This record gives sequence, structure tokens and C-alpha cells, in this order.
Amino acid sequence: MTKVLVTGAKGMLGQDLCPMLKEAGFEVFEADLHNMDITKLTEVKAVIDAEKPDYIVHAAAYTNVDAAETDSDTAFLINKTGSANIAKISGEKGIPVFYISTDYVFNGKNTVPYKPNDPVSPINVYGESKLAGEIAVKTHNSKHYIFRTSWLYGHKGKNFVETMIALAQKNPELRVVADQVGCPTWTVELSKAVINFIKNPVSYGTYHVCGSGSTSWHGFASKIMEFMNYNVKVIPVSTDEFPRPAKRPAYSIMDNSGICPDWQESLKKYIELRGNG
Ligand SMILES: NC(=O)c1ccc[n+]([C@@H]2O[C@H](COP(=O)([O-])OP(=O)(O)OC[C@H]3O[C@@H](n4cnc5c(N)ncnc54)[C@H](OP(=O)(O)O)[C@@H]3O)[C@@H](O)[C@H]2O)c1
Repeated sequence: MTKVLVTGAKGMLGQDLCPMLKEAGFEVFEADLHNMDITKLTEVKAVIDAEKPDYIVHAAAYTNVDAAETDSDTAFLINKTGSANIAKISGEKGIPVFYISTDYVFNGKNTVPYKPNDPVSPINVYGESKLAGEIAVKTHNSKHYIFRTSWLYGHKGKNFVETMIALAQKNPELRVVADQVGCPTWTVELSKAVINFIKNPVSYGTYHVCGSGSTSWHGFASKIMEFMNYNVKVIPVSTDEFPRPAKRPAYSIMDNSGICPDWQESLKKYIELRGNG
């Protein structure tokens, strides 16, 4: 049976990906901080030596975008060094690796959707550290799939959809940023893409794996309210009204070459599954 080792198995993506891999017929080794600290090369080597996976999906990361601004050492330790450790050991053994990366590798100044080979130039520490991870993966393991995703939401984690729903249950109106645009992505669709790539291998390289179409955070919140049947007013505001420690790219739309379905279709399914309570 094909065996897949997933790092960050207890994270938002990992908790949807692992059961889906099992359902698709794979054996799964769920790695997370408790059994394999990716920042420790000897631990990574020991686990990969023992488990002998056929594939690795490297989803573990330092994901607190704002905290990374003042904690860059930790962000780089996990996102760069940790990814280098995974890539070194998998590269030595010829194990293909999926590295889950981000739209934040781009500076947001484009006016047309970003393609995988467009120039990168992150504008915050998190983006810099994830880009350093991409470079490490490419350097140490030629059998790599870099999956850049964006605006991720899933059933088992803190995310924009659940934050908006919780706020809407307590407020008659929501003020949401309208001058940042991107591609909402459901963890389930990203997981399906991983499974498809394993089952039907294509060329190694960098792919944009995000929902098709695009919207602003305001548009996203408005759709969430519509699908939840909430009668809550969503007021568009500018980024300046919501100062955050880390800068966000204004334009984060990626060209996904049709890898994932339309973001609204996915959001509708997500809300049908979670229920509207
Ligand atoms: N969420 C988004 O909107 C988004 C957007 C674009 C890309 N991504 C990327 O997608 C991937 C999955 O994101 P997610 O939202 O599922 O992240 P998440 O929920 O924060 O999960 C990350 C996991 O990595 C684990 N981890 C952290 N440091 C580790 C270490 N040193 N060794 C082993 N495991 C460690 C965390 O464990 P602890 O919780 O115990 O620290 C957590 O379980 C990440 O690579 C992220 O960069 C996410």
C-alpha cells in the first residue's frame, strides 16, 4: 500500500487531508510536533527512516502571519530550516515531497492573476520565510511539488469563514476589508488535488492550488452570510481602517489552471456540511 507521511497532521489542512488520504486507499503516517519536530534534522531522519513513506506532504508551518513580524527567528526556523530538513532527508531517499506554500510569496502589485513562474517578492516575514522554504525544498529535493494556496479554510481550524460566522452571531453588521482580493480555498479541494497528483503524477514543479475565481474579503464575507442565511449587513472598508502588524498583498489572485473548482461552489458545500448553526 502506498504510504504518505503528512507533516502538520494536526493542523487545519492536515486534519482534513489525513482522513481523505486514508479514504482514498493510502496508508498515512500523521506527523506533528509531538512525534517529529521538523526543526530537528535527526528527528526527521529517524522518523522517515522508520516509516519509509512513498510520499511526503509537508504542511507543517509557522502560520501566525502577524506574530511572524516580531518572531522572525522562529518563523524562519520552522518554515525555512524545518522545510530544508524535510527536503534533505526525502531528497536523499528519492521520496517525492509536496510543500504547501502561499500566495504571500508575491508582493500583490500584479493586475492579472499570478502564474507559478511569475517573480516572487514577499512583503511580510511570513511570506519571506515560506519563500525560503520553497527555495530549500527546490534545492534539496528535485522530486518536489510546490503547491501555493491561499485564503484557506477548513472544518478543523481557526479561519476567516468561522471568524465571520462567530462575529455575525453577535453583531448586526460587519465591517470587512474590500481592497484586498484573492482566491478562497477549501482544505478539502486542496486535499483532493494532492490525492490526484499522487494518483496521476504530472511534472514536478510549482502549482497554484486555490479556488477558481476571486473576490475581496468583503465579497467573501458577503457570500458566507448569504449561504448561512444570515441577515447581517456587510460594510466594505479599506485596509487602512484595519491596521495589522504584517502587510497583506492587495492583489493575491493566482491562476490555478483549473486545478480547483469555483470558490463559491466550494464555500456552499463547506457550509452545507458544517450546518448553519
Ligand atoms: N491558513 C491559510 O490561510 C494558508 C494560506 C496559504 C498557505 N497556507 C499553508 O498551508 C499549510 C497548512 O496550513 P494550516 O492552516 O493547516 O496550518 P496550521 O493549522 O497552523 O497547522 C500547522 C501545523 O504545523 C505544526 N507545526 C508547527 N511547528 C512545527 C514543528 N516544528 N514541527 C512539526 N510540526 C510543527 C503545528 O503544530 P502546533 O499547532 O502544535 O504548533 C500545526 O499542527 C501551511 O504550510 C501554511 O503555510 C495556509
